[in-house]
Amino acid sequence: MIYFYNLLLLILCYLSEINSARILGIIPTPSISHQIVYRPIWKELSQRGHKVTVLTTDPINDSSLKNLTEIDLSFSYDLYNNKHNFSDKIDKLAGKPLEMVNAIITMNADICDEQLKHPKVKRLINDPNEHFDVILVEILQPCMFAFAHRFKAASIGVVSMDAQSAAYDSVVNPTHPILNPDFMLPLAGKLSFFERVFSVVISNVMRVYEFLFIIPINDKVIRENFGDDYPSCKDFIQYLDMLFVNVHPILSGIRPNVPAVVNIGAGLHIQSPKSLPEDLKSFLDNAPSDVIYFSLGSNVKSKDIIPSTRQIITETFAELPYTILWKFEADSLPNQPKNVKIMKWLPQQDVLRHPKIKLFITQAGHQSIEEAIFSHVPMVVMPFFADQEGNAKRIVLKDIAVKVDHKELTKESFKSSILEVMENKKYRENVKKLAELLQDEPMTGLEKAVWWTEHVIRHKGAKHYRSAAIEMPFYEYFLLDVIGFLLLVLFIVIYVSVKMSKLVFKVIFKLCGGEKPKFKRH
Ligand SMILES: *[C@@H]1O[C@H](CO)[C@@H](O)[C@H](O)[C@H]1NC(C)=O
Repeated sequence: MIYFYNLLLLILCYLSEINSARILGIIPTPSISHQIVYRPIWKELSQRGHKVTVLTTDPINDSSLKNLTEIDLSFSYDLYNNKHNFSDKIDKLAGKPLEMVNAIITMNADICDEQLKHPKVKRLINDPNEHFDVILVEILQPCMFAFAHRFKAASIGVVSMDAQSAAYDSVVNPTHPILNPDFMLPLAGKLSFFERVFSVVISNVMRVYEFLFIIPINDKVIRENFGDDYPSCKDFIQYLDMLFVNVHPILSGIRPNVPAVVNIGAGLHIQSPKSLPEDLKSFLDNAPSDVIYFSLGSNVKSKDIIPSTRQIITETFAELPYTILWKFEADSLPNQPKNVKIMKWLPQQDVLRHPKIKLFITQAGHQSIEEAIFSHVPMVVMPFFADQEGNAKRIVLKDIAVKVDHKELTKESFKSSILEVMENKKYRENVKKLAELLQDEPMTGLEKAVWWTEHVIRHKGAKHYRSAAIEMPFYEYFLLDVIGFLLLVLFIVIYVSVKMSKLVFKVIFKLCGGEKPKFKRH
């Protein structure tokens, strides 16, 4: 009997082994808005019996998730906030895109280097018995794709917002610079002539930048941490099996996608409602008026806003007939008006769900926008950096928000924008309709992410979905050789016809009298 029982257990183990894959997730960016998008994916994959290991700066730390192992890289926040002092730079380098991009590239490479030197990550790299079937890597850190080579695993690029043109290039997805300008550019909707020129030039400059600066600095980090014989990360990225992009086309723009691109937005990170902390709940329940929620997200700190702008903001708030709840990270706000309450941290999704909240003033971060939409709260957007300017334009086009410029903020413009969204019902109606559209889908983003990950595991990659364009030189892809050939043919046809007709004329003249008519003066 015991023998039989053991045999049964052995068979069960064997069966579960077949269905249980080893998955490595790598999300290196020290920013909670990047991390929370993937949490439901790790959770679901591990509950389906896969052994999931995740390198993350914000572990879930849920001991009930028995098949999930998290390597805690939260020390990276210190690099971001103190060593590279990035939140300071967001305001200082606004309007200096090149310096901003350089600061980001240098910081990212340093963070990657330090993360790969973390003892637990080092052990993972060097353990000869470690094995993974598939790795999911946040595409913003190309150096991390070296793990695909290390484990001879299939690789999926993931991104918590839209993907940059260079990332779409990696699965040879078409990127049309006019229809779908790179989401990092401050462009949306119908572009003017000079915006179109700008989009074409800048998106190609970004590709050159990727090639000249980002790839070499990442290769250096790879060779230092994995070995001198490692190929360039350019090669790893070219061999991506799939790309999971956390957008929904209604919000990010309709575009043609190859099957290797899977849109896993929108609202992937939205959690089920939880009750608010008691003090916050009673504050909102008992507020004497409708409430405006103001937060600039986790990367831009309200306390870092330059004092003159902060002064305009507080003066504007003081004149409003509403209550304002401000996520403010310092202990006290200078000249704090009576109708303003500050708090250092707020459970944003549940705050936005409170019926008293009627407006969200936000920096237009991707996750914040989705949270507002699914809570049916219209917005006033105050973009600062990265994708925020483009996001702001895209939602203004949807008529669910009004945009203000933090660099040229005046009390009049800020106040009239707030009153417009508070008093004009169309914004609230539009945001509700949009939320319904985004949710009317055959599969949720989470279901798609899990299904396609298991597809990649079952078939050891997804090369069968790769476009033939990956092998094609760029002049073939852009029809340059064909256009050149056709122009040449056209030129020859025109040239030959001109020559022929000249010849024909000559022959006719010869036949009609032998001489060209001469005009003689009499
Ligand atoms: C862990 O994986 C096994 C199969 O490998 C599965 O039976 C079990 O339900 C999973 N446990 C949890 C807590 O997800």
